[in-house]
Amino acid sequence: MKRIGVAVLGAYGWMGRSHCSVYADLTRIFPDLPVEVTLRWLVGNSEQGTRHVAQQFGAECRGVDWRAAIEDPQVDLVDICLPDALHYEVAKASLEAGKHVYCEKPFTNTLDEAEELVSLAAVKGVVTRVGHNFPVNPVHALAKDIMASGEIGEVTLFKAAQHVDSLADPLAPFIWRLDANRAPTGVVGDTGSHIFSFMDYLVGTVDEVIAHCPIIHSKRPHLAGARYGDPVQANATNATRAVTNPDVGMVICRFANGAVGTVDFSRIASGRRFLQRYEIYGTKGSITYDYDQIARLNVFSSSDARGRQGFRAIDVGPEWPDYARFLPLPNFGIGFNEVKSLEVGEVIRSVANGEPKWPTFADAKRIVALVDACLASHNSRRWEKVRN
Ligand SMILES: NC(=O)c1ccc[n+]([C@@H]2O[C@H](COP(=O)([O-])OP(=O)(O)OC[C@H]3O[C@@H](n4cnc5c(N)ncnc54)[C@H](O)[C@@H]3O)[C@@H](O)[C@H]2O)c1
Repeated sequence: MKRIGVAVLGAYGWMGRSHCSVYADLTRIFPDLPVEVTLRWLVGNSEQGTRHVAQQFGAECRGVDWRAAIEDPQVDLVDICLPDALHYEVAKASLEAGKHVYCEKPFTNTLDEAEELVSLAAVKGVVTRVGHNFPVNPVHALAKDIMASGEIGEVTLFKAAQHVDSLADPLAPFIWRLDANRAPTGVVGDTGSHIFSFMDYLVGTVDEVIAHCPIIHSKRPHLAGARYGDPVQANATNATRAVTNPDVGMVICRFANGAVGTVDFSRIASGRRFLQRYEIYGTKGSITYDYDQIARLNVFSSSDARGRQGFRAIDVGPEWPDYARFLPLPNFGIGFNEVKSLEVGEVIRSVANGEPKWPTFADAKRIVALVDACLASHNSRRWEKVRN
């Protein structure tokens, strides 16, 4: 059986662990995979961290130098779970080494970088994929099917939001996500890109945006070793660091197909532990989704009998093979890690059969273009064209 060697970079962070646990469990989740997958390299930025994660998941090699992993001839797929600012440099080096590349979102810091990587990947003829995992939940394939069947007519209006409260308290400590040197696009690339991925998957290309993407808390306590999601332990007397990228995004957009949209997202919405929702309105009906009911779509059809019209709740179940991999009954709901597993399974299948799946680097470039246009609009205070 063909062997695929994988290098996970950023292996003991949140995403690194999430990806590693899927690789470790891959043959149980996907007994039908036509290849054998080996965790060849685990890379992080401390010896102790990589040792710990290597003990947990097993790997043939571990270290702190991502270049050593990329250069290893036994690595076929480079899986990038590093902070945002490193994605471009590491993806470029991986493509130059002829590797398949699976990169966490946001794909790149700028549209120019995305364009360069798309061209390079085409020249190298390798498989690429970006970790916009949320649309991989089969509930969104159902939304796409309903739309393709014409049941809700032409899409006219899209509304969506994604918020967390992890940084709502101004005393929540400084982390790399707040530093424009390590996360150049802030919450727009971090959180906005998730909603933009739904827009790309479900509605289509965006032509124009006007956006407001401010920094709300301009400085934060600086505590050594602070991690995302840790309870707030600082007080007003701690040394501080400046926050240099956006906390919030509010976007109005025009899609190429004539629909219009409003989207908002933030990392400072007190009480919103994780809010993610969309509403798609068409000329004959509508679809709404809320992450709190992760397996459910609410669908309205104006063709239902008069006096019997209203939203129907449709619960996704084992009629979707990817749902059936995990659960035999509908609406138990597959969660974040299962959806990530489906994404990893798709990446491995693409590497095995050479057939790319959405979102490739070329697809994710449209999402980067949207992030880029939002930041440009915030600065210009005007409508900006999206450079698709
Ligand atoms: N798809 C999703 O739903 C999702 C969720 C969370 C994070 N992400 C993305 O995943 C990426 C990582 O986020 P995270 O939350 O896992 O961050 P994290 O801080 O938990 O992990 C980052 C890891 O990178 C390592 N690292 C940093 N610099 C390095 C270097 N120079 N060399 C080697 N290792 C280095 C660190 O040791 C750390 O373990 C980000 O781009 C983020 O946007 C995606």
